[in-house]
Amino acid sequence: MMDYRNTAGWLSNRLPQKPESAIILGTGLSDMAEAFPLIMTIPYTDIPGFVNSTAPSHKGNLILAEMAGKAVLFLQGRFHFYEGHSMEQVVFPTRVLAAMGVKNLIVTNAAGSLRKELPPGSIVQLIDHINFMGRNPLVGHNDEDLGERFPSLNQLYDPQHRELCDQIALRHGINTFKGVYLAVSGPSLETKAECAAFAMWGADLVGMSTVPEVIAARHAGLRVLAYSIVTNYSNLFHEEAHSQDEIRHHAAIAGKQLQTILSDFIALQD
Ligand code: HPA
Repeated sequence: MMDYRNTAGWLSNRLPQKPESAIILGTGLSDMAEAFPLIMTIPYTDIPGFVNSTAPSHKGNLILAEMAGKAVLFLQGRFHFYEGHSMEQVVFPTRVLAAMGVKNLIVTNAAGSLRKELPPGSIVQLIDHINFMGRNPLVGHNDEDLGERFPSLNQLYDPQHRELCDQIALRHGINTFKGVYLAVSGPSLETKAECAAFAMWGADLVGMSTVPEVIAARHAGLRVLAYSIVTNYSNLFHEEAHSQDEIRHHAAIAGKQLQTILSDFIALQD
């Protein structure tokens, strides 16, 4: 395994500007990176230590773009545990960001809904999560350069950043929700019984990503903000399997609104 510090140095030498914020783009949200003036694109395949993303509609590029007058790094595609990558590989890009001096991490994903009140197309700000992946990315030797052995995950999703985004959404008349995200390893989808259990535990959304990255980000002292786009009702509410086309359709529409919120949020960062 490559050292994340070497990759951070490699990237810092190539990028013409130093980004303060990074945005991980989830399933169906890749296009957001292309909505802003491009500064530089680096394919993941060129980046030492990055594995290649095999997930559908994940493009696999690191993109530096100018968003609201600031240089922002977009991770167009992420590495999932279900692809067979180790947790260390899944969180490697997050650690690279931390070592590059990135301060704010914004994480996005596509998720299934466990609540009738959160239909497909909903934009949901994460207020907390349940790690049901059966793994924690911090297991193993603790790298003291990154953070402490037992990091607190209290208020993991930054309350100030959340509040700021609520105000922005209100100003634009964009309806957003709040929810608890439960992460499963996948790749099989949840059974009806699992969905019923998750909903009873207090989860509102279910997905196969995000939790490893936000844990690694908090460990490394980054401020975290995260949004899910609901792409489908979970198994709890329907009998047929949902299609990948349906997932992409909802992600594209809500993705545009999320882009508006995040762009204003970036504009307000110093
Ligand atoms: N379950 C798990 N992951 C998902 C779903 C789902 O229903 N939708 C999008 N990602």
